[in-house]
Formats: sequence, structure tokens, C-alpha cells
Amino acid sequence: MSKILRSKKEIDQLLKRKYKLHFVPTMGFLHEGHLKIVNEAKRNTESKTLVSIFINPIQFSEILDFDLYPKDLKNDISKLKLLKTDFIFIPQKNFISNSISKIKIGKLSKMLCGVDRKEHFDGVATVIMKFLTLLRPEYIYLGEKDFQQILVIRQLIKDFSINTNVRVIPTVREKGGLALSSRNKRLSKQQKSLAQKIYHELNGVKSKINKKKFHLSELIKVKERLLKHGFKQINYLEIRKEKDLTLIDKNYDSCRIFISANIGGVRLIDNLRLGKTRIIGKFVSK
Ligand code: PAJ
Repeated sequence: MSKILRSKKEIDQLLKRKYKLHFVPTMGFLHEGHLKIVNEAKRNTESKTLVSIFINPIQFSEILDFDLYPKDLKNDISKLKLLKTDFIFIPQKNFISNSISKIKIGKLSKMLCGVDRKEHFDGVATVIMKFLTLLRPEYIYLGEKDFQQILVIRQLIKDFSINTNVRVIPTVREKGGLALSSRNKRLSKQQKSLAQKIYHELNGVKSKINKKKFHLSELIKVKERLLKHGFKQINYLEIRKEKDLTLIDKNYDSCRIFISANIGGVRLIDNLRLGKTRIIGKFVSK
């Protein structure tokens, strides 16, 4: 039986039982990506799994994006009950809007998604800080799809000496490669098939790098191709180091390719691991 908790008082009662909590934060409208994370969290039978559902207003840069964020709480609860999730935490609307203190993230929040979503990662960090101090979980589970978010949360945990470990779950994709996202609901069938091109292009870059044939200028060509196919805007397409998201350089480092692109009013993100890579001349090589 899954138990639904809505208040700090109920959480405090739960903590008295000294459970080891495996925590999965979500904004709801759950898809297979979320459910895979919950299943992973449930693998440890000595602990209890707690999934939160909360659309965090302070991580949205545009009010319209917040208003249009898909919701289906009833369905989310049934899905979590089917998985036998131990606890479902649904905070009240004012969970975060009443708080004055805010976390300010440094460098990590200023690149990639932080360039045009200035307050986004401060908002994510603030709500996660609130969850972690309230729940004191042994583990927090995060999806690889939001790679920058993982680094921000890791940094937060380190900087504030929080006793929570991070587990990362690989990105779950549709058959055509599109990374599952609650925002995909806002895409038409046509837009969805266009969105598949993101993964296709990322894989193209990866395989050229594997064959030592990737010239850096091709990133511009990939952008141009995507725009020609019908994307409204490519917010970024960059190869960066996994450890701190700085740009790839002449040293061998584990790198990833990151993309954010808009179709209609929908912002999509994705990333792919490239492994140890570096720049030689104008080529990217393994
Ligand atoms: P949300 O977008 O609901 O995602 C919740 C968790 O699911 C995140 O860790 C995210 O990386 C992961 N996730 C999303 N799509 C995935 C996919 N296709 N495969 C695997 N994992 C996936 O991310 C947030 O919510 C919020 O920022 C939150 C952390 C809850 C803070 O408000």
C-alpha cells in the first residue's frame, strides 16, 4: 500500500520510524523514464522509496511554461501505486513560494540551460535543498537526461555537507530515440517525428568522433540542418567536459555533447556520452 503524505507534520511522523529513504523527486505527469527511476529506487529492499510530485514554480523562467506544464495527479498516483511505491509526497502549493531564502548556484548555473534560463538552477537547487533537509534521504535518484541538473545537485550536496548519495539513471527513450519528457505531450505527431532528429544528429556526431573524423565546424552544420528540418531555435549544441561542463580542449577528458532546441513553444534537451575525447587541431578525437 502506498501512503500519500502532504505536510511537514506527516513527514516528521514518518522520519520517527527511522526508515532509510530512497528519494525520487519529480514534477509529475509521470512517464516511463520516471517509472524506471522509481523501479531502480525500489530495488533496495531494506529501504523505503519516496517519490515527490511537485511542479516547482521557482525553476520556471516563463510563467506560460509553468502554466502549460502538464498535470495528471490522479494518473500519477495510480502509476506509483501499481509500482508499490512506499510513500508519495505531494507538498502543498505554497511549499516553496512562502520561503524567502534562496540558494544561489555559481558557474554551473550560468552555462548551457542557464544561459537563457537565468534563475532555473537556483530554483531547482532551492527546492532540492528543501526536500533534502526535510526528508534526509540516504539516496536521491536523478535522470541522466538532465545532466546539468545532476551536477548542480551534486555540488549542492557537497557544499552543504548533506548526507545523501546521488544515483543516476540512464535516459529512457522512445523507439525513435526521442528522450521521454513530460513536455513531449505538447508536441503534435509531426513535431514529435521532427524531435527524433535530435538523437539521430547526436549519434551522428558520436560515430564521426569514434571514427576520428569529426571537424568542429560540423556542429554549425548540424544546427543548420536541424533548423532546416523545422526546429524554431537551437539554444545550444556543445561538447563539454562531464566533470564541470567546461568546454572540450586539448586534454583528454570524459566529454558529452549537449543540445537544447525549441519546436513551437516546447523546449527540448538531450545529451549523449562521448567518452574520453579531446581536440587535435580542428578535429575532435578519441
Ligand atoms: P522532472 O522533469 O519531472 O524529472 C524528474 C526526474 O526524472 C529527473 O531526475 C529527470 O532527470 C528524470 N527524467 C526525466 N526524463 C527522463 C528520461 N527520459 N529518462 C530518465 N530519467 C528522466 O527534473 C525535474 O523534474 C525537476 O527539476 C526536479 C528535480 C523534480 C526539481 O523540481
